[in-house]
Amino acid sequence: MVERTLAIIKPDAVSKKFTGKIIDMIENHGFNIIRMQKLRMAPEHGQAFYAVHKERPFFGELVEFITSGPVVVMALEKENAIKDWRTLMGATNPAQADAGTVRKLYAESIGKNAVHGSDAPETAQEEIKFFFHDL
Ligand code: CMP
Repeated sequence: MVERTLAIIKPDAVSKKFTGKIIDMIENHGFNIIRMQKLRMAPEHGQAFYAVHKERPFFGELVEFITSGPVVVMALEKENAIKDWRTLMGATNPAQADAGTVRKLYAESIGKNAVHGSDAPETAQEEIKFFFHDL
C-alpha cells in the first residue's frame, strides 16, 4: 500500500552538512519527496511536535535540541513508507543501529540522532499535517 510518512533531518545532521547525503539515501531507496522545507522550529513548535513525550525526563533536552538550529522536513511517499523509512533510519540509539543505516552513518547519540520518522499511520498523518497543512 502506498503510504506517506514524515522525515526530519535534525539540527546535528544539518549543521554537519549531511543533508545531501541523507536525501540521496532517501531517493536511492525509492521514496518520493512530496514536500520539503528547511526551517527552524520555535520552542512552542518543538514542544507541540514532541507533546507525546512531555512526561519523559529528557523532554526539555529534546525540545532544546530540535530547536537549536535548522531542520529539513520532508513528506515522503512509497509503498510501506512508514516502516521502510524507520528501517533506513536505524535504531534510535545509533550504537544499536545496523550497518548502512542513516543513524549508523551520521548520528552521534540517542538524543542527537540525525533523523526522525513517524512511527504509525495515525502519527504520520498528524506529523505531516503539523508541517504541511494542506496535505
Ligand atoms: P525521535 O524519533 O525524533 O522522537 C523522540 C526522540 O527522543 C528520539 O527521536 C530520541 O532522539 C529522543 N530520545 C529518546 N530517548 C532519549 C534519551 N534517553 N535521552 C535523550 N533523548 C532521547
